[in-house]
Amino acid sequence: MFQIAVLISGSGSNLQALIDNQTKFGYRIAVVLSNVADAYGLVRAQQAGIATCVVNHKDYDGREAFERAMIQALDAYQPQLVVLAGFMRILTPTFITHYAGKMLNIHPSLLPKLKGLHTHARAIEDKESEHGASVHFVTAELDGGPIIAQGRVPVQPDDTADALAKLVLTVEHQLYPAVVAGIVKGMISAPPDVRIDDILAPIDLPLLLQKVA
Ligand code: GAR
Repeated sequence: MFQIAVLISGSGSNLQALIDNQTKFGYRIAVVLSNVADAYGLVRAQQAGIATCVVNHKDYDGREAFERAMIQALDAYQPQLVVLAGFMRILTPTFITHYAGKMLNIHPSLLPKLKGLHTHARAIEDKESEHGASVHFVTAELDGGPIIAQGRVPVQPDDTADALAKLVLTVEHQLYPAVVAGIVKGMISAPPDVRIDDILAPIDLPLLLQKVA
């Protein structure tokens, strides 16, 4: 079975979607790692009988030591893919190069638009007519890296950031397991040089769902 590790910092609703689709898409979550001890995602993992570990960045002197501790914890499970699901720490090349081509992130915007934080409020401010979520391979550039797939939602004139966040999450919950399925099935793989941005034409969610079905 294809083994994945999921990294979280919070609620873990994307983790839940990944948990719920393990059998359907033929992968197994070997471990869930959180940098926040009381992240609700850890409860979700425990309820599903998945191993958990906490590596709290506050316990380490600098990013390098924190990342080395995460690598040690994760590598005990030999993950074939590392999946960032609402993991809210910036990663350095120490961690990124260790998992080069084997690490995914989900970001709540139609990348390359709206990198960084508060994407839903910014989509409204910028009067975007369309918003959504992207899954990409992780490179050293924050929210950069080759974009694999995207799910889109319309932005209504009276939308609030909270309403939009909820809607985008419903898309994320379909998008992330489907991308992992595409990798498990060998339909998606990292380009040889994952430092090159936008090397893949992003697949739209409806087509991706058809392909992995
Ligand atoms: C998701 O919307 C995810 O895209 C976002 O955090 C949320 C986590 O929700 N990630 C980022 O902003 C990373 N830059 P969840 O904990 O319920 O899955």
